[in-house]
Amino acid sequence: MKLWGGRFEKSTNRLAENFQNSIKFDYRMYKQDIRGSIAHVRMLGVQGIIDKKESEAIIKGLEEILEDIEAGKVELKEEAEDIHMNIEMLLIDRIGQTGKKLHTGRSRNDQVALDLRIYLKEETYELVSLLKKLNYLLKDKAEENKNVTMAGYTHMQRAQPVTLGLHLLAYYQMFERDIDRLCDCNKRMDMMPLGSGALAGTAYNLDRQMVARELGFAVITKNSMDAVSDRDFVIELISCCSIIMMHLSRFCEELVIWNSYEFGYIEMDDSMSTGSSIMPQKKNPDVAELIRGKTGRVYGDLMSILTVMKALPLAYNKDMQEDKEAVFDAVDTVKACIGVFIPMLDTITFKKDNMRKSLKGGFLNATYAADYLVKKGVPFREAHESVGMAVNHCIKVKKELEELTLREFKSFNPAFGEDIYEKIGIRV
Ligand code: ARG
Repeated sequence: MKLWGGRFEKSTNRLAENFQNSIKFDYRMYKQDIRGSIAHVRMLGVQGIIDKKESEAIIKGLEEILEDIEAGKVELKEEAEDIHMNIEMLLIDRIGQTGKKLHTGRSRNDQVALDLRIYLKEETYELVSLLKKLNYLLKDKAEENKNVTMAGYTHMQRAQPVTLGLHLLAYYQMFERDIDRLCDCNKRMDMMPLGSGALAGTAYNLDRQMVARELGFAVITKNSMDAVSDRDFVIELISCCSIIMMHLSRFCEELVIWNSYEFGYIEMDDSMSTGSSIMPQKKNPDVAELIRGKTGRVYGDLMSILTVMKALPLAYNKDMQEDKEAVFDAVDTVKACIGVFIPMLDTITFKKDNMRKSLKGGFLNATYAADYLVKKGVPFREAHESVGMAVNHCIKVKKELEELTLREFKSFNPAFGEDIYEKIGIRV
């Protein structure tokens, strides 16, 4: 039996039915669907569109279905297409004719837009709280390591000394912006679309504000065609997810490098590493690598939904059902990645001595030498050139800047004095 079966003479082709049903992946919105239906039907009762008693019977039926789904007592059916129809059919099965009134003044198009918004709002809060947790940890680690110095890089070339604290707090800032972006994205998600109907609104005297209030939405959508066609909020959320993954991936890349024998800046905990099936000595940073790798699938989700939406005429088209797997996958992936990144970061041993040793050699103090000359009144460009020549000389004679004699220094710029040594001596 199909709820829309009236105008059909044939039953659906098996292949077509299997192909187009979405219950396999949209079952996870059962709670949101039931909450949305309860708010809708309560409003129908208050507005006198259906009888109050009927409204109450439907609410009770829906509450029981929710309990039964949670208790694992309900079998969701592929023939019923999606979570929305499954729940409606269950209701009709259980309470009979009255259940057929639930869908008054509503279309699956505004229903699915509603359910997805409720679901993704909740997921957005969860992402924010995970990122906050990560940032608490980063702040702690940065505080602990605020005096640990190490070589900072640009172009993967040794640049200037930095502290580990500064380096960690760079990521803190990125995740702060990610939190901000999620909160901003949430504003546009926080709009209640019911009342849009299939595309043209409805003929009933619905109280949309009441539904919005009951469901905790900030505002109602303003244009019925837009409201059922809009998946910007999905695209925005996956964009946020992609940026989070990009940040996590950069961090992981650095941890993989730092964990190498050559760098030796950190050691990943045994509990966060895996061995090799052939090389007994190996301890691989698989978790960090896999987070880096999973960035690819989240970018893929973003490309997928952008491409699905790019040429769709208004209003709803079935293509849009493809939004769910993409966004569920993106959000699940980011949650799993942050979830495992936190204990991985928490259990890393920072090898502070190796970090400090990295300051030796490689002219990390060259900028300080140029700044020294500037303080002596030399224009910066000239100071830059003098120190550049000094470095070139050092490379030829295999010395560090601080090993040059004062005479040598003065041959590059007469403004150099005895105090240059204390200014460029790097304390290791
Ligand atoms: N399962 C569909 C989706 O996820 C909802 C159905 C929308 N309406 C329709 N007429 N097919 O997009």
